[in-house]
Amino acid sequence: MIAMGAMDSMFKDFKLIAGRPVYIQVQDYMKHLIIKSALQGGQKLPSTRELSTLLKVSRNSIIAAYAGLEDDGFAYAVPGQGNFVAMTTPGSVTVASRPMNWQDHLSGHARLAEELDLMKRGIRAEKGTISFTSIAPDESLFDLDNVKRAFMDRMAVEGNVLLNYGYAKGYKPLMDYLRLYLEHKGVDMKGKDMLITNGFTEGLDLVLSALDHRHGSVLCENPTHHTAIKNLKLHGFGITGITMERDGIHLGELEQALAEGEYDCAYFVPSYHNPTGIVMSPEKRQGLMKLMAGYDIPVIEDGFNEELRYSGSHVSPLIATAGAGNSVIYLGSFSKVLFPGLRVGWVVADEELIYYLESLKRARTIHTSTLDQSILYQYLHNGNLEKYLKKARAEYKRKYELTLACCKEFLPYTALSGDGGLHLFVAFAEGFKTRELLEACRAQGVIFTPGDQFYTDGGGQHTMRLGFSRVRDAEIRKGIQIIGRAATRQLMG
Ligand SMILES: Cc1ncc(COP(=O)(O)O)c(C=O)c1O
Repeated sequence: MIAMGAMDSMFKDFKLIAGRPVYIQVQDYMKHLIIKSALQGGQKLPSTRELSTLLKVSRNSIIAAYAGLEDDGFAYAVPGQGNFVAMTTPGSVTVASRPMNWQDHLSGHARLAEELDLMKRGIRAEKGTISFTSIAPDESLFDLDNVKRAFMDRMAVEGNVLLNYGYAKGYKPLMDYLRLYLEHKGVDMKGKDMLITNGFTEGLDLVLSALDHRHGSVLCENPTHHTAIKNLKLHGFGITGITMERDGIHLGELEQALAEGEYDCAYFVPSYHNPTGIVMSPEKRQGLMKLMAGYDIPVIEDGFNEELRYSGSHVSPLIATAGAGNSVIYLGSFSKVLFPGLRVGWVVADEELIYYLESLKRARTIHTSTLDQSILYQYLHNGNLEKYLKKARAEYKRKYELTLACCKEFLPYTALSGDGGLHLFVAFAEGFKTRELLEACRAQGVIFTPGDQFYTDGGGQHTMRLGFSRVRDAEIRKGIQIIGRAATRQLMG
């Protein structure tokens, strides 16, 4: 029995929150008291009438809560006497074990993943900091009403099916849509197939798992996407980075690397390359594919940003340039163009490779969320991409031009690149240290991404990436002005 005074104080901290059934809140609260031993095994619980008064909720809610506690093994009822705390409640019987030192059990893979995890080791922003570190889309542009409509439309058509298991390869209506979408980009889909993935990143991971590691070596642009570097390293590949020129990868250097070494694959980002923002010229795309055609090396094409073109004419992806050829593995994603939170990407490649990727996907995650895929499909089907792109392009183009103009006005740079997309890349004179600049700027409330983390060979210490998509206009100007002043001071000092 609990004395009434003790009971009063015991139940004082119960607070109802809106939107959750009251009886479940009472049940959760009582479980919490039992788990932390404020109520002990065999102890009589307050009568339903008493508890109803103490918690200021209806007696029916208490009756339902006590029934729930009994169902879950936290309490039992004795007819005519009331409700009691169970002698052994979930989690109350434990076996003492010696503490495990997890450092003795971690794989080299996990340690390397942690070591390369920039989110854990990266630059932290204080509140109010002007941050040029993100290249995520600006969520204030998202057309939520159309996303909600897409969700409701699809749920109305086949909600039950969407909530059950789906297919490893992907949600068929989305795949059909994307097939057409790629054909319109000039991709010859004959003999090719598709796999839906959790964004580009899972696609790359699956492809790297599927490829032979005979040579343990991969070719890519230098600098390149940090997540790709991280995954290549996690898969145990050595990386040969090829210098970037203003119109894309240095073909002469690539030719030499191909002649001198052996590689399991090559990874290229031809459009709005991360971090340089460079769009590889059509001539260079053809040159690159001609060169690669002389070698038995799969080409992984990262097509993540193709839609964020603000000027200039359309350029075809490498997989389109390859025509009926089957050596290109195209990884697509709408993460920058639409919503990265949906985690939907796709791999298009020779059907034989997709056949194996499908099995890997099924073994790893069974399939990408059908709900996510179906929302994206319905959103696209309803014609929203075209409408949204118009709005997003206009907004990003304005910010892009503003950032470019501010860089030209305020930064003592030696090279500046970015043909569109959501970021620009800046190089200062050789020997300049952007990490030192970052420290000086951080003290003044501005941060950016130092470029060295994108380099495959420890270079790029004089470079930085400026992501502008989520920075307000006034802050773009103010931030770059601060970076410019600090950089000039650093160059003089
Ligand atoms: C080069 C590159 N590829 C692809 C992506 C998109 O990856 P995901 O689709 O996994 O979000 C990004 C995102 O920043 C990127 O920079």
